[in-house]
Amino acid sequence: MRFDVITLFPEMFQAARLGVTGKALEGEQASLQLWNPRDYTEDNHRTVDDRPYGGGPGMVMKVVPLKAALQQAKDAAPDSRVIYLTPQGQRFDQKAAREMAQRSGIIMLAGRYEGIDERLVDCCVDEEWSIGDYVLSGGELAAMVIMDAITRLLPGVLGHAESAEQDSYMNGLLDFPQYTRPDELNGRDVPAVLLSGDHAAIGRWRLQQALGRTWLRRPDLLEQRELSDEEERLLEEFIRTHQGASASS
Ligand code: ADE
Repeated sequence: MRFDVITLFPEMFQAARLGVTGKALEGEQASLQLWNPRDYTEDNHRTVDDRPYGGGPGMVMKVVPLKAALQQAKDAAPDSRVIYLTPQGQRFDQKAAREMAQRSGIIMLAGRYEGIDERLVDCCVDEEWSIGDYVLSGGELAAMVIMDAITRLLPGVLGHAESAEQDSYMNGLLDFPQYTRPDELNGRDVPAVLLSGDHAAIGRWRLQQALGRTWLRRPDLLEQRELSDEEERLLEEFIRTHQGASASS
């Protein structure tokens, strides 16, 4: 998958060279090309911001260098849609990551300052996406979040053991809790079933924990998901045990 990013801060993307995304960029699963509007300025000061019409605080990204950088990216990646990262966009989630992972590439436009000229959005942006209801200082971190969420879904990026199929949200539930050595920590033991070697029982316990945690922390996710008879039964048992435990404490 090909990622192109229009950014005034290409150095930030050094972080994408680490870990899972880094491995994919070194291999052939993903590539990253950065385009800096500052390289397309024509004045001595290499100006990349401009005053907003109508006044008010803050600046807007200067149109001419931004448009030129975007055009270069589009010429280099003609099959990629242009995504503008903005709090005004559609909310990015695991479903969006799965859909985007099917594409051959995306061009992400990371805004800075108060944003970009709306006419650029109209002419040249295909989609607007937000990573959450908060305001970042620029779209770069959002672009890296999206890049990370997509890259781990690309074939051959994660090994079998860490397969994305097991992730939270892939099955519409939060993750079950994990434990590692030692088997006693701060006076608390690892749940016995995990030491039992009974893989069917471990699978049921994990599914029950995932259902229970989702019920406790994100009931909205359960409303969007059909439960099988087995899942209903496991969740009911979790709820009974949980209510028993809170009544006795
Ligand atoms: N740019 C600034 N804030 C953002 C957000 N929440 N999501 C995507 N892009 C942004």
